[in-house]
Amino acid sequence: MSPLKKVIRKKDKLIKPIWLMRQAGRYLPEFRNIREKNPNFIELCLDEKKVKEITLQPLKRYNLDAAIIFSDILIVPYGLGQSVNFVKNFGPKLGLLDLKEVKNYSFRSFRKKLEPVYKSIKFVREDKIIKGKDLIGFIGGPWTTLVYMLNQCSPKNKLKKILSDKNLVIDMMKCINNFLEIHIKNQIKSGANVIQIFDSWAGLVKEKNLENFIYGPTKRLVKFTQSLNTPCICFPRNIRNYDEYVKLVKPDVISIDYNIDPKKIIKNIKIPIQGGMNPSVLLTDKKNLEKVTNNYLNIFENFPYIFNLGHGVLPQTDPNMVEHLIKIVKKFNERSPKN
Ligand code: CP3
Repeated sequence: MSPLKKVIRKKDKLIKPIWLMRQAGRYLPEFRNIREKNPNFIELCLDEKKVKEITLQPLKRYNLDAAIIFSDILIVPYGLGQSVNFVKNFGPKLGLLDLKEVKNYSFRSFRKKLEPVYKSIKFVREDKIIKGKDLIGFIGGPWTTLVYMLNQCSPKNKLKKILSDKNLVIDMMKCINNFLEIHIKNQIKSGANVIQIFDSWAGLVKEKNLENFIYGPTKRLVKFTQSLNTPCICFPRNIRNYDEYVKLVKPDVISIDYNIDPKKIIKNIKIPIQGGMNPSVLLTDKKNLEKVTNNYLNIFENFPYIFNLGHGVLPQTDPNMVEHLIKIVKKFNERSPKN
């Protein structure tokens, strides 16, 4: 059984597998090298051979337990015919959205546009290096996906009044969920054996809208993933009430952000937990890294836990610090079992 599945399916507390959000990314010189030669990010995400190479870059360097397919949550808006560009020092910029067009968009055209993503998952699966390990497929949460589609850029830059018509948002979300399901299904069919839902902007939603914008639509996708006999990890970044989220959405694993107190969370949550450590700890020194990492590992020692960060690896991270982090986690895994 693969490392993540041991924790998720068997509730194994002895092994603490490790993978990192954004493990293939700008902190790696070998990624930057490819990226420099490929200025169009979406095109890069659709180049099967390069996607395979980038996905496996961190596994070639480090003893990681899982790979996450190199892609982006914004590949779904792209698949729906919206233009997506990544502008240096600004982030993603999306084109105008024709709501009618999205509503009438055919599943076939969507699948066809994203076919290279599925092919690259197949290519990654064929590689020896991933044998026995997990390959994580992913989507953006329905809310986060819609925020980018309507806001046309990251809410970090500016936030338009996208919620002025609440019924429109609910209606659009239903429509987008159909495509997110297709994207989940095709990733699994191609060889992904775990799905993660990134709801990076869950923290923006007011209490009274949580059911309609987060819990309801995400629960549908979790159920769908589980119906394909595949576990689903949810990362509702900055959501105020993780306990309520877990009770209502019922994911297989909950991935926590770095504002969460790990000691408190294990008191209330009964499902496997992933992540938590602040990615900026990797910007400090090895001694501090050991202290903070071991603190997380000790807190979760008797809990089914997948080591990860509370958000993605930062671009300015030294790859040697990532190597050291993985060593610390692997060393903890060699401890003798407690009686
Ligand atoms: O984790 C991985 O290694 C897999 C690949 C992955 C990427 N994006 C590659 C990427 C994953 C899982 C994502 C998810 C993603 N994309 C999220 C959810 C997680 C999170 O960070 O909250 C979001 C919100 C996006 C949208 C997105 N993509 C943004 C806002 C940006 C710009 C980031 C910035 O700092 O400018 C991206 C670009 C992106 N996606 C890069 C990578 C490696 C950087 C591309 C580059 O400029 O070289």
